Amino acid sequence: MPTVRDLREQAGDEPITMLTAYDAPTAAIVDDAGVDIILVGDSVGNVSLGHETTVPVTVDGIAHHVGAVSRATDDALIVADMPFLSFGVDEKDSLENAGRMLKEEGAQAVKLESGPHTIELTEKMAQLGIPVMAHLGLTPQHVNQYGGYPRQGTDQEAAERILELALAHEEAGAFSLVLEHVPSNLAAEITAALEIPTIGIGAGSDCDGQVLVVNDAVGLSEWSPSFSKQFGNVREEMKSAIDDYISAVESESFPAAEHSHEESDLDELY
Ligand code: KIV
Repeated sequence: MPTVRDLREQAGDEPITMLTAYDAPTAAIVDDAGVDIILVGDSVGNVSLGHETTVPVTVDGIAHHVGAVSRATDDALIVADMPFLSFGVDEKDSLENAGRMLKEEGAQAVKLESGPHTIELTEKMAQLGIPVMAHLGLTPQHVNQYGGYPRQGTDQEAAERILELALAHEEAGAFSLVLEHVPSNLAAEITAALEIPTIGIGAGSDCDGQVLVVNDAVGLSEWSPSFSKQFGNVREEMKSAIDDYISAVESESFPAAEHSHEESDLDELY
């Protein structure tokens, strides 16, 4: 299993691969394929739980998914995404919520959607032994403030603010940084300015690694953002398997003899 230290050292060498997973079977497939990091993203809210946004995701909810993923993962580093308001309101609660992911659920690190309010918290967590992956640019937990999911860092002032926050989080002890939906030239500049690895999503090709939501990558999502890429068509595969199942039941070709068993001792019953 790569440690957060290995990943820090991977910056600038071989690109880091990260995918989300929310359940044990998906985690096992992602892990066996050799992905470096599995993120148990709060995207579970809209991807798997039918919410419109990630805002309703709870600490108990994410803990449940982190446990499932960690039970099925042998090699990848597991990062638990801390839900909206589970950090940054009260320091003690933030530490307990994050600590629970490591102590009880098997994560090795947490991700915090970051801002000025997470610099001291990142430092405290790092000091206590909770590795922190920072996340700047588009932070979807701010959806109600943004009024959607707009690109970030598109003017000089906003870009400088993101660069400053990136440097501050590195200084505070974050072991890596997710950059979401920012211009590729800004992501390249931040990557060059930091020693810790950057992991991009909608941030161009110059980051040290890339992350996608697994349902988008395998083609299970009904909709995915323009910066995502579908590498398979699991939705079509599932639909075709389910159609075949319905036809087989309706035509009485399933279950066949090989899916059933007969007990000769029961002949008397009839
Ligand atoms: O929740 C999530 O899946 C994420 C990634 C998209 C970075 O935060």
